[in-house]
Amino acid sequence: MRSVLVASTAFGLLALVPACDKRPDSNPSPTTETPAAPTTASGPAAPKSRPFDPGQLAVFAALPASIERPDNVLTPDKVALGRMLWFDARLSKAQDVSCNSCHDVTKSGADDAPISTGTKKQKGTRNTPTIFNAAGEFAQGWDARWTLVEELVVPHAAQASVMGVDEKRLVDTVSSIPAYAAAFKKSFPDAKGAVAADTIAMALGAYARKLLTPSKWDTFLGGDQSALTDDEKAGLGAFMDASCTTCHAGKYVGAAQNQKLGVAKAWPASADVGRFAVTKEDVDRGVFKVPTLRNVTKTAPYLHDGSIASLDEITKLMSRHQVGKELTDAQTKSIVTFLGALAADPPKDLVAKPELPASGPKTPKPD
Ligand code: HEC
Ligand code: HEC
Repeated sequence: MRSVLVASTAFGLLALVPACDKRPDSNPSPTTETPAAPTTASGPAAPKSRPFDPGQLAVFAALPASIERPDNVLTPDKVALGRMLWFDARLSKAQDVSCNSCHDVTKSGADDAPISTGTKKQKGTRNTPTIFNAAGEFAQGWDARWTLVEELVVPHAAQASVMGVDEKRLVDTVSSIPAYAAAFKKSFPDAKGAVAADTIAMALGAYARKLLTPSKWDTFLGGDQSALTDDEKAGLGAFMDASCTTCHAGKYVGAAQNQKLGVAKAWPASADVGRFAVTKEDVDRGVFKVPTLRNVTKTAPYLHDGSIASLDEITKLMSRHQVGKELTDAQTKSIVTFLGALAADPPKDLVAKPELPASGPKTPKPD
């Protein structure tokens, strides 16, 4: 049993290397030092709390204080404008959904549906990922299609199952609202205050870049071992013993690489080809971005298709299909307890719904 486990883990690691997309500020490669869980004849006992030395924790990192991009400076004016656009359903074709309808920042940065409902009640095929911390991830979208949040905005809004608006309609709508035109002038003095696809994406991107959720996990990583309870620390041990850190490590406990779903044991067929849709390379069939586990206790249902409702269940399935090992109920419960320590809310003033400016005479009607 043990040798099978080690072999499959090593295989997983080999497979990781070429698939690991790198950005200059991306997280370190997955560690090879994660020990396999000790198995005894009587079966594993419930995980126990233990002290962690900094070396063991080096595979993780605390959230940065902010996610800056030099060419989209985060001024308070721009973030406030982005927040208004974020909540404004007039941006969508039938003026019935805003970014917040699916990525609800007053909740988990996502919604509860396996598949969200977009404008004109259209449905896509993928689960809505949380917007919290997303701007810092190495790529955007389940298939890592875009690198920066700003790059995603216009094509994402154009999807029929999202907002159903082409670039022209998006720009026409925003520029027709008099107070927006004034706010763009203030936020983008260099671009001469133009309302354009670019500046709309920058404003929404600026808002997304502020939606960080540092938690007691970050305090713990900062050196305060008392920030986690004994049960959470035991869960961290169980998480590391279960080799989850092969893929879920770094600042976001994930979101630093793409991986095949079913790397150790085949996943039942999924209709979604994953990253193959972007690269058209066979090795990318069924490959998805490894999601962040920050806030994961609040973002059910799980996976790219929202097919798994419970965190206990997905934890067991991950171990079976990604690591090649069965978890006991006690190990599963302990890991889930640890995952709870990764959750926190962004600052309240950032997520409150702002008052939206009145439409102008040229504002398009819903269609
Ligand atoms: C109808 C629901 C819906 C609406 C409305 C919506 N999104 Fe999304 N969003 C999604 C889904 C689904 C995905 C995953 C897309 C994929 O992987 O193909 C996603 C992905 C994202 C991501 C990538 C996050 C990650 O972790 O990969 C960002 C950023 C994002 N959306 C921002 C926005 C912004 C900005 C708006 C408003 C302009 C918006 N979304 C409107 C459903 C929605
Ligand atoms: C070989 C890489 C790999 C390993 C090891 C791995 N995961 Fe994952 N994990 C992924 C990928 C890829 C996904 C997304 C798959 C998808 O959506 O189809 C994922 C998704 C998840 C999700 C769902 C998150 C969401 O927002 O939908 C959870 C929870 C999770 N993993 C926990 C774990 C735990 C706990 C372990 C250890 C037992 C683990 N993972 C081990 C690659 C891995």
